[in-house]
Amino acid sequence: MCEIDADWEIQRTVFRRLASSEESERRLARWLAMWEEQGTGFWLFSDADGNLVGHAGLFPSPQTAGATELGYILKPAFWKRGYATEIARALVDLAFGDLGLDELVANTMPENAASRRVLERVGFSFAGETLYKGELPNAAYRMKSTDRPRDRPTAT
Ligand SMILES: CC(C)(COP(=O)(O)OP(=O)(O)OC[C@H]1O[C@@H](n2cnc3c(N)ncnc32)[C@H](O)[C@@H]1OP(=O)(O)O)[C@@H](O)C(=O)NCCC(=O)NCCS
Repeated sequence: MCEIDADWEIQRTVFRRLASSEESERRLARWLAMWEEQGTGFWLFSDADGNLVGHAGLFPSPQTAGATELGYILKPAFWKRGYATEIARALVDLAFGDLGLDELVANTMPENAASRRVLERVGFSFAGETLYKGELPNAAYRMKSTDRPRDRPTAT
């Protein structure tokens, strides 16, 4: 997490600022507590050789009260290989499958074309431009369980 939070190539498209290692450690503590309090949170993803690709998860949306948000961050060495799409699909399947959620939200910077492409491909629809946490330009996405694409095998 410290590595991802301190990487400008990543953060220029996410929070537009770098986090200190202390901030990363505090966020990690919050994320670990989330598993206890909410029963959900972030997973680490690795490739078939065991290299850490990034993290992604399902979490209470800081943007939309009461909603569950899907988010992902991959290390640049692993971009453009379809991994974000594979990860997002697995999370959508989990959310609407075993977790039985009715709706997911997602947020990305309006100019983050790769992330928007991933969200739309796994079934999200653009719901308008907003400000994320009241300050960052944001493209809001939503997906109902009934919108989930059915033309592919379900992840196991
Ligand atoms: C956004 C991100 C998750 C995409 O990961 P990825 O593994 O490269 O995504 P995928 O390979 O599954 O798909 C990306 C798609 O966007 C397209 N794409 C990539 N860069 C693009 C660009 N600059 N403009 C338009 N499309 C672009 C790719 O061509 C691909 O579409 P295709 O398969 O139809 O060709 C990754 O770049 C990332 O982690 N970025 C930093 C963090 C971030 O932005 N997180 C999201 C914040 S909510």
